[in-house]
Amino acid sequence: MSDPVLELDHVDAAYGPFRALFDINLRVGAGEAVALVGANGAGKSTIARVASGLLAPTAGAVLVDGTDLTGAPPFRFARAGIAHAPEGRSTFASLTVSENLQLAFRAARPRRDVAADLDEAFTLFPRLGERRDQVAGTLSGGEQRMLALARVLVLRPRLLIADELSLGLAPIVTAEVYRVLTQVRDAGTSLLVVEQHLDHALALAHRVVVLQQGEVTFDGGPDELGELSATVLLPAGAPSRAETAEAAETAETAETAEDPAGGEP
Ligand SMILES: Nc1ncnc2c1ncn2[C@@H]1O[C@H](COP(=O)(O)OP(=O)(O)OP(=O)(O)O)[C@@H](O)[C@H]1O
Ligand SMILES: [Mg+2]
Repeated sequence: MSDPVLELDHVDAAYGPFRALFDINLRVGAGEAVALVGANGAGKSTIARVASGLLAPTAGAVLVDGTDLTGAPPFRFARAGIAHAPEGRSTFASLTVSENLQLAFRAARPRRDVAADLDEAFTLFPRLGERRDQVAGTLSGGEQRMLALARVLVLRPRLLIADELSLGLAPIVTAEVYRVLTQVRDAGTSLLVVEQHLDHALALAHRVVVLQQGEVTFDGGPDELGELSATVLLPAGAPSRAETAEAAETAETAETAEDPAGGEP
């Protein structure tokens, strides 16, 4: 088998003393679409940050096309073709849609035909074409998300990491965003899609990875997910094996510790 585009090999990650990821093994193959699902706080965005070089793992390795980029700065990941679709409003509010796109395209590839790139962006997202002369600051949240996506997609990344693209969007706008992601997938770009809403993610994905409290608890086809799908998104699911082990280890301490919060509010 050829090298996966992205490989996380026994990755741990932490924010200061707080450990967020535990021994994560995750691969995204060439042209493969992987959905990363799990409850709030499970560690999905942390994986997205590790996979794009924004957060260095505390253990394990991150490989892009077989090259070890563990601890490398984000621009090395970008240069290797990893695009992290930024969350929220990452555009220049006082510039128009066209100007925002032109800036992004010129910065990424000075010798390319920017007019052709613009046409491509407006073909992907006709709504942006209709609003090409509108300043980005007055776009709706969904339109801003489309603009942010268009900026990276036209550059044809090897792997697009999309973190909660549908967050706060109306169903019709979410459907539009997923229509484009499907095109991007069919054109051969690998996808790692973080999503709390299973329906769109499962329709798009070749493979689903379920994350619970920093651990991968399922990795398989969307059709194998079965009844797990009903439980993976609950914030307080069944405790993971590691958590159970951890609880057993710390039970003695917990028994003797005072509860400073004084129980339920
Ligand atoms: N900068 C940070 N400093 C400290 N802890 C953090 C930081 N960022 C995230 N965490 C913690 O790491 C854990 C995983 O967070 P992460 O953002 O990866 O979750 P998520 O699965 O993306 O959740 P959501 O679905 O709510 O976006 C959470 O417990 C969170 O509080
Ligand atoms: Mg998140």
